[in-house]
Amino acid sequence: MNVPESLKPSNLAEERLVREIDGTRLPQHIAVIMDGNGRWARKRHLPRVAGHRAGVQSARTIIETCARLHIPALTLYAFSMENWRRPKAEIDFLMRLLRDYLRRELPVIQRNNIRLLIIGRPDQLPEAVRNDVERAMAQTASNTGMKLAVALNYGGRAELVDAFNRILDQARQTGLADALVDEETISQNLYTAGLPDPDLLIRTSGEMRVSNFLLWQIAYAEIYVTETLWPDFTRAQLYEALLDFQKRDRRYGGLTDSRQKITA
Ligand code: IPE
Ligand code: IPE
Ligand code: MG
Repeated sequence: MNVPESLKPSNLAEERLVREIDGTRLPQHIAVIMDGNGRWARKRHLPRVAGHRAGVQSARTIIETCARLHIPALTLYAFSMENWRRPKAEIDFLMRLLRDYLRRELPVIQRNNIRLLIIGRPDQLPEAVRNDVERAMAQTASNTGMKLAVALNYGGRAELVDAFNRILDQARQTGLADALVDEETISQNLYTAGLPDPDLLIRTSGEMRVSNFLLWQIAYAEIYVTETLWPDFTRAQLYEALLDFQKRDRRYGGLTDSRQKITA
């Protein structure tokens, strides 16, 4: 594909990859489980937090690359509800890292016309974090480019519970007798309302599970798992994921070739 000037390949491998990508068949929404920071650090005999710090650079690269490729939506799994089970020192570091990221990167986010959204349960976040993310969301609210959803204190089941409760509330207010829930009602009451469902789900570090991420929305996502640890995930690797995605035969339960012989 022709890439914007700002994405001119920095090496031959990248150049070869980017030439193969079909710019007309890019995913509308990429969701990423950014995993493997701790293992990256352990391999280098560093503390786990060094892995998280290194992971921020990968996030920065992927955000900017997706924005410049005009991918409409990108969701990054930054902190799950289950991650509260980690030691307090690690949690505190992750919260601090997020706040630093927002402060430092906001100009880049603005420059790329990105709209920041936070998905998850904000009320359980430390107040300082909540204030910072709310401010960042407000400051980017009128941006018209890529939507960047950061999943923070996020759980897929909790999201469904919250959606059902919102639907029940609305039904109580409008009269239960008329209430009829369909798929659209559920989608519209999720934290991700307004975003297309992810068509590509990337997980780094080789784990073959979804870890309570976007359970409803990934119904027909193409899943791409790479052994690469998140801090080692580069722009070239994103291109590889896109190429792999473009090779998939998305049948949605139907048949690709409807001229196949069906019966004897
Ligand atoms: C992902 O890396 C980052 C978060 C969950 C916040 P991990 O911290 O899970 O890294 P591993 O899985 O222990 O290597
Ligand atoms: C998923 O990674 C959550 C994030 C990337 C934020 P985890 O490392 O927490 O998931 P598990 O424990 O391997 O399922
Ligand atoms: Mg992990």
